[in-house]
Amino acid sequence: MNSLSVPHLIGIRDLTTSDINTIFTTADSFKDVINRPIKKVPSLRDITIANIFFENSTRTRISFELAAKRLSADVLNFTASSSSVKKGETLIDTVNNILAMKVDMVVMRHASPGAAAFLAKNISARVINAGDGTHEHPTQALLDAYSIREKFGDVADKKVAIVGDILHSRVALSNIYCLQKLGAEVMVCAPKTLIPKNLSDLNVHYTDNLKEALSWCDVANMLRIQLERQEIPYFPSLREYTMQFGLTQAILDELPKQITIMHPGPINRGVEISSEVADGQNSIILNQVENGVAIRMAVIYLLASQIER
Ligand code: CP
Repeated sequence: MNSLSVPHLIGIRDLTTSDINTIFTTADSFKDVINRPIKKVPSLRDITIANIFFENSTRTRISFELAAKRLSADVLNFTASSSSVKKGETLIDTVNNILAMKVDMVVMRHASPGAAAFLAKNISARVINAGDGTHEHPTQALLDAYSIREKFGDVADKKVAIVGDILHSRVALSNIYCLQKLGAEVMVCAPKTLIPKNLSDLNVHYTDNLKEALSWCDVANMLRIQLERQEIPYFPSLREYTMQFGLTQAILDELPKQITIMHPGPINRGVEISSEVADGQNSIILNQVENGVAIRMAVIYLLASQIER
């Protein structure tokens, strides 16, 4: 059986191209499963998974829960806002208490970059990073690349523009690593204030001109502005941001070609993307959500297969 070169999924940076392709071929099988009348396999009946979310989530948390249940694992959901974290309990104490209940795998979202790596070093269970601050969101990048592969047959040589708040986006960083490992070219498009200082280390193209990015790319991945991570103003107003970087049907209609539109969600309709584009014929936004379940099943299954049982 194919296996991964890593014991945990902390970031795309740690994966080999072969790991990513193994996840994709495993997800292909699980995509067949979730489209059958009985959407479940008995593979992980002996595994217990804790979903621990210290930050808000809709798609990722539900998708991980559904993925675990489709594999017949037992799942427990922990939300920090209604837990004893509010009474001062530390991350390690919280997780060790959950592990004392015989949990095999922890899926964690946390506001601090490095939180998932810290956890993996300090506990015996397998760890999957469901987003750590502005650092990485590996399963989002995997499902994004998988959706591009599904649309075009291959990710290699595709041109992908990532538009929006690159500075605060774990989705952007994980996507850059993943797409480049698969042979795609990446351009980022944002106001200069929303570009990280280390951009030159990432080997991506840059423009602050939306039309230039759209004319160049095959796929545009539109990101929301992460106001909750912005402690200072990075641009004059959301209205001005939308005027320069908001994607509308009128802008798409001016292009000499069709491009594919993606968004990791949550969407701020009318800010980074109009409803007409988000719901339009070139959008694969809901395919991304569907593929998220198959990708997360694949990641959980492959990591669980390394557990001695
Ligand atoms: N894409 C994503 O991470 O969405 P959620 O924040 O809703 O999980």
